[in-house]
Amino acid sequence: MTPTISDPVRDYRPNDRDALYSVCLQTAATGGDATALHADPSLPGSVWVGPYVEFEPDLAFVLDDGAGAQGYVLGTLDTRAFEARLAAEWMPLLQRLHPVDEFEPDTRDAALVRLIHQPMVAPAEVVSEYPSHLHIDLLPRWQGGGWGRRLIDTLLGRLTEKGSTGVFLGVSPANEHAVGFYQHLGFEPVSTDGGLWLARPLTA
Ligand SMILES: CC(C)(COP(=O)(O)OP(=O)(O)OC[C@H]1O[C@@H](n2cnc3c(N)ncnc32)[C@H](O)[C@@H]1OP(=O)(O)O)[C@@H](O)C(=O)NCCC(=O)NCCS
Repeated sequence: MTPTISDPVRDYRPNDRDALYSVCLQTAATGGDATALHADPSLPGSVWVGPYVEFEPDLAFVLDDGAGAQGYVLGTLDTRAFEARLAAEWMPLLQRLHPVDEFEPDTRDAALVRLIHQPMVAPAEVVSEYPSHLHIDLLPRWQGGGWGRRLIDTLLGRLTEKGSTGVFLGVSPANEHAVGFYQHLGFEPVSTDGGLWLARPLTA
């Protein structure tokens, strides 16, 4: 289907990947632009976008105004299975590209490289009740217009069709705008183990 301005939400396509990495970079600083904060602009997307669109492209949706991706929501059905593939298939490639001492220790790039070498594992008490998880980011001019809700609804519909019983996400508590958005959409705090985790059940 050709996207139109009245309905710019569509399924992910492989040639969206670079645009999604760009959206990720432009929203990676607690929701703000992290472009000036990374010596390697591909790192945020390599961690937060690449494995999702590679492993579960059918759970990736894009906001496209006709000029390319302006935002996305990415999901994974089974977090533990995703984490296992991440450790076995995705991170080893990045580990070869990015040695642990590639960047100065106090930089954002160094923090992402640490994550590449020691991938995050979501808390057991969260995953046991909410097996799926998601990421969402929109460029600033698309924020506040209802598109975040639309993308989340689209993904949750697909997750429900696939049999998921619950979905969670991790968010920086400093990103008060996003926390307010998620809570408005019915996500509730379920853990503060290593960050703030919000979740909501899914029912068919
Ligand atoms: C967070 C984000 C995805 C929200 O998407 P959005 O398009 O701006 O939000 P929407 O316009 O769809 O808002 C949906 C609803 O949430 C409400 N809402 C949004 N932010 C809110 C807040 N901080 N507190 C309370 N309600 C809020 C809206 O009023 C709207 O309510 P309604 O549908 O009942 O009228 C988007 O702003 C974004 O990408 N921000 C930058 C990147 C980011 O922080 N990503 C999350 C990282 S964890």
